[in-house]
Amino acid sequence: MKRIRIGPEERVFVLTGAGVSAESGLKTFRDQGGLWEGHRVEDVATPEAWAENAARVWRFYSQRRRDALKAEPNVAHRSLAAMERALGERFFLCTQNVDDLHERAGSRRLVHMHGELFASRCEFSGAGMGAFACAAKPFHDEALYESDAAIARCACGGRIRPHIVWFGETPLKMNRIEREIAQATTMLVAGTSGAVYPAASFVNWAEPQARRIYIGPEEPANAGSFTQIVLGKAGEVLPELFEVG
Ligand code: APR
Repeated sequence: MKRIRIGPEERVFVLTGAGVSAESGLKTFRDQGGLWEGHRVEDVATPEAWAENAARVWRFYSQRRRDALKAEPNVAHRSLAAMERALGERFFLCTQNVDDLHERAGSRRLVHMHGELFASRCEFSGAGMGAFACAAKPFHDEALYESDAAIARCACGGRIRPHIVWFGETPLKMNRIEREIAQATTMLVAGTSGAVYPAASFVNWAEPQARRIYIGPEEPANAGSFTQIVLGKAGEVLPELFEVG
């Protein structure tokens, strides 16, 4: 395959999804055997689910913490960290993933728009709490909570919740994401089905002349918005795909 050249003036915006962690052994959501086969979103990934049964929500995220603690970054994560080292501030990574494999592979210029698996926060903190908001910040947390009694409490009395953006909640760092997309000359999207918004819109927010490249084993739902589709596993395609400089 002909390598895609990234010139000295180019700025690269990368969006990743669960597919880039698949080769690390972590389940995706909508593939065969994915997370949404074994669980209903309504039961584990909405504010209503939390209000109805916080322990069930925490059992879901505790299992994902167990799985992620056993996983190692794969070639896809390492390739993106290498691209960042080559491009410096001309590189930006937005991930929909909540695992920490990009960081563990060396990525630094990244944001987690759907939150982070190894962070927790007070249920009364964060956007949308208004005057009653708790000022406590999210904190690093690898603990497993499997029952109501086990759920830790904030000093304000609130229960500790996953620092995850649930369906119906507002994605994080959108201002920074929009700024980075506006400057990008190449958008690379890898390992995401294009089923969830606003992430699936990012390809349409890029400048008209920007290159828009998708990498994954099957076409995403928004395939028509890309200038190039590279079919294959991220860990197999990414190492050889780009030539920087
Ligand atoms: N390399 C690249 N892509 C892969 C690989 C791989 N080895 N294996 C699977 N894929 C692709 C699949 O083809 C699919 O398009 O990864 C994508 C996974 O899609 P989803 O399971 O829908 O995951 P994602 O797109 O990240 O979901 C978006 O939905 O449930 C919410 O918040 C959750 O962040 C998640 C969001």
